[in-house]
Amino acid sequence: MNTPRTVKGFYDIFHPQSALYTFMENTARRVFGAYGFEELRLPVLEFTELFRRGIGGDTDIVQKEMYTFADRKGRSLTLRPEATAGVVRAYLESGRHGRDAVCRLFVCGPMFRYERPQAGRTRQFHQLNCECLGAANAQADAEILLMLDAFLRELGLTGLRTELNTLGCRACRPGYMEKLSAFLRALNPETLCPDCRRRLESNPLRILDCKVPACREQTAQVPAVRDHVCAECAAHFETVLGILGREKVSVVLNPRLVRGLDYYMRTTFEIVSEAIGAQGSVAGGGRYDGLTTLLGGPAVPGIGFACGMERLALALDGQGKGRFAPRPDFYFAVLDRECADKALHAAQILRAAALSGTVDFRDGKLGAKLRRAAQADAEYCLIFGAAEFAEDKVIVKNMDDGAQVSLPLSTLGDWAEIRFENKKEASRKGRLPLFQAT
Ligand code: HAM
Repeated sequence: MNTPRTVKGFYDIFHPQSALYTFMENTARRVFGAYGFEELRLPVLEFTELFRRGIGGDTDIVQKEMYTFADRKGRSLTLRPEATAGVVRAYLESGRHGRDAVCRLFVCGPMFRYERPQAGRTRQFHQLNCECLGAANAQADAEILLMLDAFLRELGLTGLRTELNTLGCRACRPGYMEKLSAFLRALNPETLCPDCRRRLESNPLRILDCKVPACREQTAQVPAVRDHVCAECAAHFETVLGILGREKVSVVLNPRLVRGLDYYMRTTFEIVSEAIGAQGSVAGGGRYDGLTTLLGGPAVPGIGFACGMERLALALDGQGKGRFAPRPDFYFAVLDRECADKALHAAQILRAAALSGTVDFRDGKLGAKLRRAAQADAEYCLIFGAAEFAEDKVIVKNMDDGAQVSLPLSTLGDWAEIRFENKKEASRKGRLPLFQAT
Protein backbone atom coordinates (compact mmCIF):
# COMPACT_ATOMS: atom_id res chain seq x y z
CA MET A 1 0.00 0.00 0.00
CA ASN A 2 1.30 3.47 -0.88
CA THR A 3 2.05 5.85 1.96
CA PRO A 4 0.00 9.08 1.92
CA ARG A 5 1.46 12.11 0.11
CA THR A 6 0.95 15.86 0.31
CA VAL A 7 -1.37 17.60 -2.13
CA LYS A 8 0.40 19.13 -5.16
CA GLY A 9 1.65 22.63 -4.35
CA PHE A 10 1.48 22.02 -0.57
CA TYR A 11 4.66 21.44 1.46
CA ASP A 12 5.86 20.29 4.85
CA ILE A 13 8.29 22.76 6.36
CA PHE A 14 10.81 20.93 8.51
CA HIS A 15 13.56 22.27 10.76
CA PRO A 16 15.77 24.23 10.05
CA GLN A 17 13.52 25.87 7.42
CA SER A 18 10.76 26.15 10.03
CA ALA A 19 13.21 28.10 12.23
CA LEU A 20 13.58 30.59 9.40
CA TYR A 21 9.79 31.04 9.33
CA THR A 22 9.75 31.57 13.11
CA PHE A 23 12.54 34.12 12.75
CA MET A 24 10.57 35.99 10.06
CA GLU A 25 7.40 35.95 12.15
CA ASN A 26 9.15 37.13 15.30
CA THR A 27 10.95 39.90 13.42
CA ALA A 28 7.60 40.95 11.93
CA ARG A 29 5.96 41.02 15.39
CA ARG A 30 8.79 43.15 16.75
CA VAL A 31 9.01 45.63 13.86
CA PHE A 32 5.27 45.92 13.18
CA GLY A 33 4.63 46.11 16.93
CA ALA A 34 6.91 49.15 17.09
CA TYR A 35 4.50 50.85 14.67
CA GLY A 36 1.42 49.99 16.75
CA PHE A 37 0.21 46.93 14.85
CA GLU A 38 -1.75 44.35 16.87
CA GLU A 39 -1.80 40.71 15.89
CA LEU A 40 -5.10 39.31 14.65
CA ARG A 41 -5.62 35.58 14.15
CA LEU A 42 -8.15 35.06 11.39
CA PRO A 43 -9.96 31.90 10.31
CA VAL A 44 -8.56 30.34 7.14
CA LEU A 45 -12.10 29.63 5.89
CA GLU A 46 -14.59 32.33 4.91
CA PHE A 47 -17.82 32.51 2.94
CA THR A 48 -16.92 32.66 -0.77
CA GLU A 49 -19.02 35.79 -1.14
CA LEU A 50 -16.47 37.77 0.92
CA PHE A 51 -13.74 37.26 -1.67
CA ARG A 52 -16.05 37.69 -4.65
CA ARG A 53 -17.14 41.08 -3.34
CA GLY A 54 -13.83 42.10 -1.78
CA ILE A 55 -11.21 40.99 -4.31
CA GLY A 56 -13.47 41.35 -7.38
CA GLY A 57 -15.34 38.76 -9.46
CA ASP A 58 -13.25 39.41 -12.58
CA THR A 59 -9.83 38.93 -11.00
CA ASP A 60 -7.68 35.86 -11.72
CA ILE A 61 -7.81 34.95 -8.04
CA VAL A 62 -11.60 34.73 -7.91
CA GLN A 63 -12.03 33.40 -11.47
CA LYS A 64 -9.43 30.64 -11.42
CA GLU A 65 -7.47 30.30 -8.21
CA MET A 66 -9.74 29.79 -5.23
CA TYR A 67 -10.20 26.57 -3.28
CA THR A 68 -13.98 26.74 -3.09
CA PHE A 69 -16.31 23.98 -1.92
CA ALA A 70 -19.76 23.50 -0.46
CA ASP A 71 -20.01 22.54 3.21
CA ARG A 72 -22.42 19.89 4.48
CA LYS A 73 -25.28 22.36 4.32
CA GLY A 74 -24.44 23.44 0.78
CA ARG A 75 -22.95 26.84 1.71
CA SER A 76 -20.10 27.97 -0.48
CA LEU A 77 -16.87 28.34 1.50
CA THR A 78 -13.37 29.30 0.36
CA LEU A 79 -9.90 28.80 1.83
CA ARG A 80 -8.59 32.37 2.07
CA PRO A 81 -6.49 33.32 -0.97
CA GLU A 82 -5.32 36.48 0.83
CA ALA A 83 -5.95 38.19 4.16
CA THR A 84 -7.14 41.73 3.41
CA ALA A 85 -10.80 40.89 2.75
CA GLY A 86 -10.89 38.77 5.94
CA VAL A 87 -9.27 41.54 8.02
CA VAL A 88 -11.83 44.06 6.82
CA ARG A 89 -14.63 41.57 7.48
CA ALA A 90 -13.35 41.03 11.04
CA TYR A 91 -12.88 44.77 11.58
CA LEU A 92 -16.47 45.50 10.56
CA GLU A 93 -17.98 42.45 12.28
CA SER A 94 -16.26 43.22 15.58
CA GLY A 95 -17.36 46.86 15.54
CA ARG A 96 -13.76 48.08 15.73
CA HIS A 97 -14.63 50.78 13.20
CA GLY A 98 -16.93 52.37 15.77
CA ARG A 99 -14.28 52.33 18.51
CA ASP A 100 -10.88 53.05 16.98
CA ALA A 101 -10.01 56.13 14.97
CA VAL A 102 -7.16 54.17 13.40
CA CYS A 103 -6.83 50.40 13.70
CA ARG A 104 -3.62 48.62 12.75
CA LEU A 105 -3.84 44.86 12.35
CA PHE A 106 -1.21 42.24 11.55
CA VAL A 107 -2.05 38.73 10.35
CA CYS A 108 0.33 35.93 9.60
CA GLY A 109 -0.44 32.49 8.28
CA PRO A 110 -1.19 30.31 5.29
CA MET A 111 -3.07 31.43 2.17
CA PHE A 112 -4.31 29.19 -0.62
CA ARG A 113 -4.33 29.78 -4.36
CA TYR A 114 -4.77 27.19 -7.08
CA GLU A 115 -1.91 28.42 -9.25
CA ARG A 116 0.62 26.51 -11.33
CA PRO A 117 3.38 25.64 -8.84
CA GLN A 118 6.91 26.79 -9.72
CA ALA A 119 9.89 28.27 -7.86
CA GLY A 120 8.46 30.92 -5.53
CA ARG A 121 4.86 29.95 -6.27
CA THR A 122 3.04 27.36 -4.21
CA ARG A 123 -0.62 26.57 -3.67
CA GLN A 124 -0.34 26.94 0.08
CA PHE A 125 1.93 29.85 0.91
CA HIS A 126 2.42 32.06 3.95
CA GLN A 127 1.96 35.79 4.28
CA LEU A 128 2.88 38.45 6.79
CA ASN A 129 0.05 40.90 6.26
CA CYS A 130 -0.51 44.38 7.72
CA GLU A 131 -3.59 46.56 7.39
CA CYS A 132 -3.99 50.11 8.64
CA LEU A 133 -7.66 51.12 8.70
CA GLY A 134 -8.95 54.64 9.31
CA ALA A 135 -6.13 56.84 7.98
CA ALA A 136 -6.64 58.51 4.58
CA ASN A 137 -3.62 60.79 4.53
CA ALA A 138 -0.50 60.30 2.48
CA GLN A 139 1.60 60.05 5.65
CA ALA A 140 -0.11 56.73 6.40
CA ASP A 141 0.99 55.39 3.00
CA ALA A 142 4.54 56.60 3.58
CA GLU A 143 4.65 55.14 7.09
CA ILE A 144 3.52 51.73 5.87
CA LEU A 145 6.28 51.77 3.26
CA LEU A 146 8.86 52.89 5.83
CA MET A 147 7.78 50.07 8.14
CA LEU A 148 8.01 47.51 5.34
CA ASP A 149 11.45 48.81 4.46
CA ALA A 150 12.54 48.58 8.14
CA PHE A 151 11.24 45.00 8.34
CA LEU A 152 13.07 43.85 5.21
CA ARG A 153 16.29 45.49 6.39
CA GLU A 154 15.86 43.87 9.81
CA LEU A 155 15.65 40.48 8.08
CA GLY A 156 18.99 41.29 6.47
CA LEU A 157 17.67 41.41 2.90
CA THR A 158 19.41 43.58 0.35
CA GLY A 159 19.13 44.04 -3.40
CA LEU A 160 15.41 44.80 -3.33
CA ARG A 161 13.58 47.26 -5.56
CA THR A 162 10.55 49.20 -4.30
CA GLU A 163 8.17 49.86 -7.17
CA LEU A 164 5.44 52.45 -6.77
CA ASN A 165 2.44 53.63 -8.76
CA THR A 166 -0.81 55.48 -8.25
CA LEU A 167 -4.11 54.18 -9.58
CA GLY A 168 -6.17 57.32 -9.02
CA CYS A 169 -9.48 57.38 -7.17
CA ARG A 170 -13.17 56.93 -7.84
CA ALA A 171 -13.30 60.48 -9.22
CA CYS A 172 -10.46 60.28 -11.74
CA ARG A 173 -10.17 56.56 -12.57
CA PRO A 174 -13.22 56.49 -14.95
CA GLY A 175 -11.65 59.24 -17.08
CA TYR A 176 -8.41 57.27 -17.27
CA MET A 177 -10.27 54.05 -18.06
CA GLU A 178 -11.87 55.76 -21.08
CA LYS A 179 -8.45 56.77 -22.37
CA LEU A 180 -7.11 53.29 -21.73
CA SER A 181 -10.05 51.67 -23.51
CA ALA A 182 -9.64 53.98 -26.50
CA PHE A 183 -5.95 53.01 -26.67
CA LEU A 184 -6.74 49.29 -26.39
CA ARG A 185 -9.56 49.43 -28.96
CA ALA A 186 -7.04 50.71 -31.50
CA LEU A 187 -4.96 47.54 -31.08
CA ASN A 188 -5.44 44.37 -33.06
CA PRO A 189 -6.82 41.93 -30.42
CA GLU A 190 -5.17 39.03 -32.27
CA THR A 191 -1.77 40.41 -31.19
CA LEU A 192 -2.68 40.00 -27.51
CA CYS A 193 -2.51 36.82 -25.45
CA PRO A 194 -5.83 34.97 -24.75
CA ASP A 195 -5.90 36.28 -21.16
CA CYS A 196 -5.53 39.87 -22.32
CA ARG A 197 -8.19 39.38 -25.02
CA ARG A 198 -10.56 38.36 -22.22
CA ARG A 199 -9.37 41.30 -20.08
CA LEU A 200 -10.23 43.75 -22.89
CA GLU A 201 -13.84 43.37 -21.76
CA SER A 202 -13.58 42.22 -18.16
CA ASN A 203 -10.55 43.99 -16.64
CA PRO A 204 -8.59 46.22 -19.08
CA LEU A 205 -6.32 47.61 -16.34
CA ARG A 206 -4.75 44.17 -15.83
CA ILE A 207 -3.48 44.21 -19.44
CA LEU A 208 -0.86 46.68 -18.20
CA ASP A 209 0.88 44.13 -15.98
CA CYS A 210 0.70 41.18 -18.39
CA LYS A 211 4.16 39.60 -18.61
CA VAL A 212 3.76 38.20 -22.16
CA PRO A 213 6.36 40.03 -24.32
CA ALA A 214 3.96 40.55 -27.25
CA CYS A 215 1.38 42.19 -24.96
CA ARG A 216 4.03 44.40 -23.39
CA GLU A 217 5.21 45.47 -26.81
CA GLN A 218 1.67 46.32 -27.92
CA THR A 219 1.09 48.40 -24.80
CA ALA A 220 4.49 50.10 -24.68
CA GLN A 221 2.90 53.50 -25.41
CA VAL A 222 -0.14 53.03 -23.17
CA PRO A 223 -1.18 56.22 -21.28
CA ALA A 224 0.09 56.12 -17.68
CA VAL A 225 -2.48 56.42 -14.87
CA ARG A 226 -0.24 58.91 -13.09
CA ASP A 227 -0.57 61.38 -15.97
CA HIS A 228 -4.37 61.32 -15.73
CA VAL A 229 -5.16 61.46 -12.01
CA CYS A 230 -7.00 64.34 -10.33
CA ALA A 231 -5.20 67.10 -8.43
CA GLU A 232 -5.83 65.46 -5.03
CA CYS A 233 -4.47 62.10 -6.15
CA ALA A 234 -1.44 63.80 -7.69
CA ALA A 235 -0.76 65.77 -4.47
CA HIS A 236 -1.24 62.60 -2.39
CA PHE A 237 1.30 60.74 -4.50
CA GLU A 238 3.77 63.62 -4.47
CA THR A 239 3.58 63.74 -0.65
CA VAL A 240 4.26 60.01 -0.40
CA LEU A 241 7.23 60.31 -2.75
CA GLY A 242 8.51 63.37 -0.89
CA ILE A 243 8.47 61.60 2.50
CA LEU A 244 10.14 58.48 1.13
CA GLY A 245 12.84 60.63 -0.44
CA ARG A 246 13.39 62.51 2.80
CA GLU A 247 13.62 59.22 4.76
CA LYS A 248 16.06 57.84 2.17
CA VAL A 249 13.91 55.00 0.85
CA SER A 250 14.63 54.80 -2.85
CA VAL A 251 11.74 53.91 -5.11
CA VAL A 252 11.24 53.21 -8.79
CA LEU A 253 8.05 54.44 -10.47
CA ASN A 254 6.36 51.64 -12.38
CA PRO A 255 3.36 52.86 -14.40
CA ARG A 256 2.41 49.24 -15.16
CA LEU A 257 1.98 48.31 -11.51
CA VAL A 258 -1.79 47.80 -11.25
CA ARG A 259 -1.87 44.76 -8.90
CA GLY A 260 -4.11 41.73 -9.28
CA LEU A 261 -6.90 42.64 -6.86
CA ASP A 262 -9.71 45.08 -7.66
CA TYR A 263 -9.83 46.94 -4.35
CA TYR A 264 -6.80 49.19 -4.90
CA MET A 265 -6.85 52.93 -5.46
CA ARG A 266 -4.17 55.64 -5.26
CA THR A 267 -0.84 54.28 -3.96
CA THR A 268 0.15 50.76 -5.00
CA PHE A 269 3.53 49.14 -4.49
CA GLU A 270 5.57 45.99 -4.82
CA ILE A 271 8.96 45.01 -3.47
CA VAL A 272 10.86 42.99 -6.03
CA SER A 273 13.93 40.82 -5.59
CA GLU A 274 16.03 40.27 -8.71
CA ALA A 275 17.67 37.26 -7.12
CA ILE A 276 14.78 34.77 -7.00
CA GLY A 277 13.64 34.44 -10.60
CA ALA A 278 10.37 35.14 -12.33
CA GLN A 279 8.27 35.19 -9.14
CA GLY A 280 10.33 38.06 -7.76
CA SER A 281 7.69 40.02 -5.90
CA VAL A 282 8.39 39.46 -2.18
CA ALA A 283 5.70 41.91 -1.02
CA GLY A 284 2.84 43.89 -2.48
CA GLY A 285 0.14 46.22 -1.31
CA GLY A 286 -1.57 49.54 -1.59
CA ARG A 287 -4.47 51.73 -0.61
CA TYR A 288 -8.04 50.37 -0.72
CA ASP A 289 -10.36 53.14 0.47
CA GLY A 290 -13.51 51.63 -1.11
CA LEU A 291 -13.25 48.14 0.37
CA THR A 292 -15.26 48.65 3.57
CA THR A 293 -18.23 49.97 1.58
CA LEU A 294 -17.96 47.11 -0.92
CA LEU A 295 -18.41 44.83 2.10
CA GLY A 296 -21.49 46.74 3.30
CA GLY A 297 -19.79 48.86 5.97
CA PRO A 298 -19.25 52.60 6.38
CA ALA A 299 -16.57 54.31 4.29
CA VAL A 300 -13.24 53.76 6.08
CA PRO A 301 -9.93 54.33 4.29
CA GLY A 302 -7.33 51.57 4.41
CA ILE A 303 -3.83 50.73 3.31
CA GLY A 304 -1.76 47.60 3.73
CA PHE A 305 0.57 45.02 2.28
CA ALA A 306 1.51 41.38 2.45
CA CYS A 307 4.94 39.76 2.28
CA GLY A 308 5.22 36.26 0.85
CA MET A 309 7.28 34.20 3.31
CA GLU A 310 8.32 31.54 0.78
CA ARG A 311 9.79 34.28 -1.41
CA LEU A 312 11.49 36.01 1.51
CA ALA A 313 13.00 32.62 2.40
CA LEU A 314 14.26 32.16 -1.17
CA ALA A 315 15.80 35.63 -1.17
CA LEU A 316 17.48 35.01 2.21
CA ASP A 317 18.81 31.66 1.00
CA GLY A 318 20.12 33.41 -2.12
CA GLN A 319 22.10 35.71 0.16
CA GLY A 320 23.44 32.79 2.18
CA LYS A 321 21.39 33.84 5.17
CA GLY A 322 18.96 30.95 5.19
CA ARG A 323 20.22 29.36 8.43
CA PHE A 324 18.24 30.68 11.34
CA ALA A 325 18.08 27.76 13.70
CA PRO A 326 19.80 28.38 17.03
CA ARG A 327 22.53 25.76 17.67
CA PRO A 328 21.66 23.16 20.31
CA ASP A 329 23.95 23.52 23.32
CA PHE A 330 24.44 19.84 23.88
CA TYR A 331 24.07 16.37 22.46
CA PHE A 332 24.11 13.74 25.19
CA ALA A 333 25.76 10.57 23.89
CA VAL A 334 24.81 7.60 26.05
CA LEU A 335 27.15 4.71 25.29
CA ASP A 336 25.58 2.09 27.51
CA ARG A 337 21.87 1.57 28.13
CA GLU A 338 22.57 1.21 31.87
CA CYS A 339 23.52 4.90 31.83
CA ALA A 340 20.35 6.16 30.16
CA ASP A 341 18.44 6.98 33.32
CA LYS A 342 21.24 9.03 34.85
CA ALA A 343 21.81 10.82 31.53
CA LEU A 344 18.14 11.76 31.35
CA HIS A 345 18.38 13.25 34.83
CA ALA A 346 21.58 15.15 33.96
CA ALA A 347 19.96 16.58 30.82
CA GLN A 348 17.06 17.84 32.94
CA ILE A 349 19.63 19.78 35.03
CA LEU A 350 21.06 21.34 31.86
CA ARG A 351 17.62 22.38 30.64
CA ALA A 352 16.78 23.85 34.04
CA ALA A 353 19.82 26.09 33.45
CA ALA A 354 18.24 27.19 30.12
CA LEU A 355 20.44 25.08 27.83
CA SER A 356 18.88 23.10 25.01
CA GLY A 357 19.71 19.73 23.55
CA THR A 358 18.76 16.09 23.16
CA VAL A 359 19.74 12.78 24.71
CA ASP A 360 20.68 9.98 22.34
CA PHE A 361 19.51 6.99 24.36
CA ARG A 362 20.25 4.31 21.79
CA ASP A 363 23.17 1.95 22.19
CA GLY A 364 26.02 2.75 19.88
CA LYS A 365 29.67 3.36 19.32
CA LEU A 366 31.28 6.65 20.30
CA GLY A 367 32.34 7.49 16.71
CA ALA A 368 28.76 7.20 15.42
CA LYS A 369 27.45 9.28 18.32
CA LEU A 370 29.99 12.03 17.69
CA ARG A 371 28.99 12.11 14.06
CA ARG A 372 25.36 12.56 15.12
CA ALA A 373 26.34 15.34 17.52
CA ALA A 374 28.09 17.07 14.62
CA GLN A 375 25.06 16.53 12.36
CA ALA A 376 22.85 18.09 15.03
CA ASP A 377 25.33 21.02 15.07
CA ALA A 378 25.52 20.78 18.87
CA GLU A 379 28.15 22.94 20.53
CA TYR A 380 29.04 20.24 23.09
CA CYS A 381 28.81 16.50 23.06
CA LEU A 382 28.37 15.03 26.54
CA ILE A 383 29.77 11.51 26.60
CA PHE A 384 28.47 9.11 29.16
CA GLY A 385 29.67 5.49 29.14
CA ALA A 386 30.13 2.72 31.68
CA ALA A 387 33.43 4.17 32.98
CA GLU A 388 31.92 7.63 33.53
CA PHE A 389 28.83 6.05 35.07
CA ALA A 390 30.99 4.16 37.58
CA GLU A 391 32.79 7.39 38.59
CA ASP A 392 29.75 9.66 38.47
CA LYS A 393 31.44 11.77 35.81
CA VAL A 394 30.65 12.95 32.30
CA ILE A 395 32.98 13.93 29.46
CA VAL A 396 32.19 17.33 27.96
CA LYS A 397 33.59 17.68 24.45
CA ASN A 398 33.64 21.03 22.64
CA MET A 399 32.55 20.14 19.11
CA ASP A 400 34.20 23.19 17.56
CA ASP A 401 37.77 22.72 18.81
CA GLY A 402 37.66 19.11 20.02
CA ALA A 403 38.83 20.03 23.55
CA GLN A 404 37.31 17.86 26.26
CA VAL A 405 37.15 17.73 30.05
CA SER A 406 35.81 15.20 32.50
CA LEU A 407 33.40 16.78 34.98
CA PRO A 408 31.81 15.31 38.12
CA LEU A 409 28.09 14.98 37.44
CA SER A 410 27.42 17.01 40.59
CA THR A 411 29.07 20.07 38.95
CA LEU A 412 27.16 19.85 35.68
CA GLY A 413 24.59 22.40 36.89
CA ASP A 414 27.35 24.94 37.63
CA TRP A 415 28.97 24.28 34.24
CA ALA A 416 25.60 24.85 32.56
CA GLU A 417 25.01 28.11 34.38
CA ILE A 418 28.43 29.50 33.50
CA ARG A 419 27.92 28.45 29.91
CA PHE A 420 24.51 30.18 29.77
CA GLU A 421 25.88 33.38 31.33
CA ASN A 422 28.72 33.37 28.77
CA LYS A 423 26.21 32.94 25.98
CA LYS A 424 24.08 35.81 27.25
CA GLU A 425 27.12 38.04 27.57
CA ALA A 426 28.30 37.19 24.07
CA SER A 427 24.83 37.84 22.68
CA ARG A 428 24.67 41.21 24.50
CA LYS A 429 27.94 42.23 22.90
CA GLY A 430 26.56 41.17 19.55
CA ARG A 431 29.15 38.48 19.00
CA LEU A 432 26.99 35.39 19.22
CA PRO A 433 23.32 35.90 18.37
CA LEU A 434 21.35 33.78 20.79
CA PHE A 435 18.11 33.29 18.89
CA GLN A 436 18.95 34.99 15.64
CA ALA A 437 20.40 34.45 12.25
CA THR A 438 23.72 32.68 12.19
P1 HAM B 1 -0.55 39.75 -3.47
O1 HAM B 1 0.33 40.57 -4.35
O2 HAM B 1 -1.56 38.90 -4.15
O3 HAM B 1 -1.28 40.78 -2.49
O4 HAM B 1 0.32 38.85 -2.52
C1 HAM B 1 1.31 39.41 -1.70
C2 HAM B 1 2.56 38.57 -1.73
O5 HAM B 1 2.24 37.22 -1.41
C3 HAM B 1 3.24 38.50 -3.09
O6 HAM B 1 4.06 39.60 -3.31
C4 HAM B 1 4.04 37.21 -2.96
O7 HAM B 1 5.24 37.47 -2.26
C5 HAM B 1 3.15 36.35 -2.08
N1 HAM B 1 2.40 35.37 -2.91
C6 HAM B 1 1.26 35.57 -3.58
N2 HAM B 1 0.88 34.43 -4.21
C7 HAM B 1 1.81 33.49 -3.92
C8 HAM B 1 2.00 32.11 -4.24
N3 HAM B 1 1.12 31.43 -4.99
N4 HAM B 1 3.09 31.46 -3.76
C9 HAM B 1 3.99 32.11 -2.98
N5 HAM B 1 3.85 33.41 -2.63
C10 HAM B 1 2.79 34.10 -3.09
C11 HAM B 1 -2.17 40.40 -1.54
O8 HAM B 1 -2.36 39.28 -1.17
C12 HAM B 1 -2.84 41.59 -0.87
N6 HAM B 1 -3.86 41.07 0.05
C13 HAM B 1 -1.81 42.43 -0.15
C14 HAM B 1 -2.40 43.61 0.55
C15 HAM B 1 -2.61 43.73 1.87
N7 HAM B 1 -2.86 44.70 -0.03
C16 HAM B 1 -3.35 45.51 0.90
N8 HAM B 1 -3.22 44.92 2.06
